[in-house]
Amino acid sequence: MQRPCFRYTKTHFLLFRQKECVLSKQSARCRLKPVKVGICGLGTVGGGTFNVLTRNAQEIARRAGCSIEIKAIASRRPNPACDTSAYTLQTDVIALARDPEIDIIVELIGGYEVAKELVMTAIENGKHVVTANKALIAVHGNEIFAAAAKKNVVVAFEASVAGGIPIIKAIREGLAANRINWLAGIINGTGNFIMTEMREKGRAFADVLAEAQALGYAEADPTFDVEGIDAAHKLTILASIAYGIPLQFSKAYTEGISKITPDDVQYAEELGYRIKHLGISRHTDKGIELRVHPTLIPKSSLLASVNGVMNAVMVSGDAVGQTLYYGPGAGAEPTASAVVSDLIDVARMLDASAECRVPPLAFQSAELSQTPVLSVEDTVSGYYLRLQAVERPGVLAHVTRILGEKGINIEAIVQKETKEAQVPVIMLTQRVAERMMNEAIREIEALPDILGEVIRIRVDHLAD
Ligand code: HSE
Repeated sequence: MQRPCFRYTKTHFLLFRQKECVLSKQSARCRLKPVKVGICGLGTVGGGTFNVLTRNAQEIARRAGCSIEIKAIASRRPNPACDTSAYTLQTDVIALARDPEIDIIVELIGGYEVAKELVMTAIENGKHVVTANKALIAVHGNEIFAAAAKKNVVVAFEASVAGGIPIIKAIREGLAANRINWLAGIINGTGNFIMTEMREKGRAFADVLAEAQALGYAEADPTFDVEGIDAAHKLTILASIAYGIPLQFSKAYTEGISKITPDDVQYAEELGYRIKHLGISRHTDKGIELRVHPTLIPKSSLLASVNGVMNAVMVSGDAVGQTLYYGPGAGAEPTASAVVSDLIDVARMLDASAECRVPPLAFQSAELSQTPVLSVEDTVSGYYLRLQAVERPGVLAHVTRILGEKGINIEAIVQKETKEAQVPVIMLTQRVAERMMNEAIREIEALPDILGEVIRIRVDHLAD
């Protein structure tokens, strides 16, 4: 027998809404049960997280709908910035991941091996995870999210990129209507601090790095900061969320700032540019660019004014246009701000089914695309070139001939008057495929009157 067709009326709809309200009040009552977290790692970020969770406990409970309680802390040593006298610090992080009373594991130990074991054990034991570990997410994220989906738990990682700036939430949720065209960011505070101090105060590289380490900004291995590996971890995460592609850290091109000289900084300024260590990702017709390198950007660009340890990310979407997110990218409480907001998100979603949650990489897992990540040779940019030339007639003619033959248009040339036998020549070129520029540089370096290697820094106008 055919069932009678039932038509919903406005009254029915109101009744449903009222029923939903009763249910949500009931679940709010259930949620008065505190959510219990285990903090693993009590270093800079762990200490900040402990202090923010304790100091703002009431505000946090009002937002989450339940209190968020620290059930246990595992750390190799106490943090003098935290009053943890009410706790017995444990040393075995994995034991916390198995503790049946803990709902959420906060992974703040960093690194790959132990952190991965901790996160996978927590997931295996049905716990949600909040982490600030960009290396772990960039390298093992695909595997971690797959395991989390099977166990219907959340892995939240807002603090992994740009510290206190809610950039993951902004791209994943706030810009969800857009096709993202490109993003570019200063996403390593230590590198930006070094570049800023070198430019403003003429300080030595090593001296500035030591200060960043003392302030707690630098990675345990500072080469991660200065060689761009940390920024590449973060860029990998941002690109996946922006375009809905699996995490592919191994395909990111990474170049550090250790070869930038005060002369380059000065020449760039004279030409109207500033050198910033940027992570850039573009969605082009051929594929996705994923690269971290020093970049000349116009002094008038907003990113050029981002100084010291501050981070900033520009995101260009087809509907919204260009947007900019700025703030502290590292440090105890700025990063804790992101960790604790993830904890609140997870606490709010504890009872939600997997379909009701925001997917970790912004797009539904089954909808991730296989758009290729381009090799750096297939990317396109303008170039700043610095070459050391013997001071004699015709040398520049050979250089410009090579560039001309490759179709590379020169925008500016600077050569200062000198009485020396050799002289630096600076050139700015228009946009060209990196493969073509590599060929040109090889030929220029082979000229007998060009001494040593040609220094190249990519130029980006950060325009659509
Ligand atoms: N070493 C990082 C930085 C810390 O300097 O930005 C935050 O990831």
